[in-house]
Amino acid sequence: MKPNQIAITTAIIAAAIILTAVLSTASLNAAATGGGAEQGNAGQIARGKYLVDIMGCHDCHTPMKMGPQGPERDWDRALSGHPEYVVMPPAPSLPPGPWISTVGATFTAWNGPWGTSFTMNLTPDKETGLGDWTVEEFIATMKTGRERGKGRPVLPPMPVEVVSKLTDTDIRALFAYLQTVKPIKNRIPQPIDPPESK
Ligand code: HEC
Repeated sequence: MKPNQIAITTAIIAAAIILTAVLSTASLNAAATGGGAEQGNAGQIARGKYLVDIMGCHDCHTPMKMGPQGPERDWDRALSGHPEYVVMPPAPSLPPGPWISTVGATFTAWNGPWGTSFTMNLTPDKETGLGDWTVEEFIATMKTGRERGKGRPVLPPMPVEVVSKLTDTDIRALFAYLQTVKPIKNRIPQPIDPPESK
């Protein structure tokens, strides 16, 4: 090859490499921003799983159980909320002072000035989980902090302020993913009012 042929060949190869890099970055960006229509359902579900994993939904909605090394997440009951077979006795009352909250060993039952709350079943079980929810109800719940988007206020420690700042696209992705996890029949107890309100 003559020197200018080499230069042209090198330029063509370099252009091809740059083009490949640009294209793969574009598809990575699409995946990271939720993909939406271009990525199809799989991209949306992957985005939803990513959000569930990084936003700590498992911290409160996947119960802890005692394992050989100490407390561990009960992945067989992933995202199914407070286990119905763990019947909680009344929460202990705390002495006056700066301690305001207690939590059950499962990390799914919480007590504080709002009373006692139990984390919700986010699996697609139709009777006890999100199986019969519409995506609109889910969006309204996340945006307004009201049960099913119109009922009573959703209680602490559900991070209402955080999730209310999600975009509709990301809330749709969360919902799409949650509808794909293993459905678990697990009825969540009603919250209990704080003693002073009785
Ligand atoms: C710090 C604990 C905590 C974290 C983290 C958390 N939740 Fe919750 N969540 C709760 C509690 C407690 C309730 C029940 C509140 C109630 O009964 O009012 C709840 C309730 C819900 C509900 C039901 C609301 C309704 O209308 O009844 C949905 C849906 C939900 N959470 C989704 C999520 C998603 C999705 C994530 C992750 C982005 C998440 N939660 C992270 C504690 C948490």
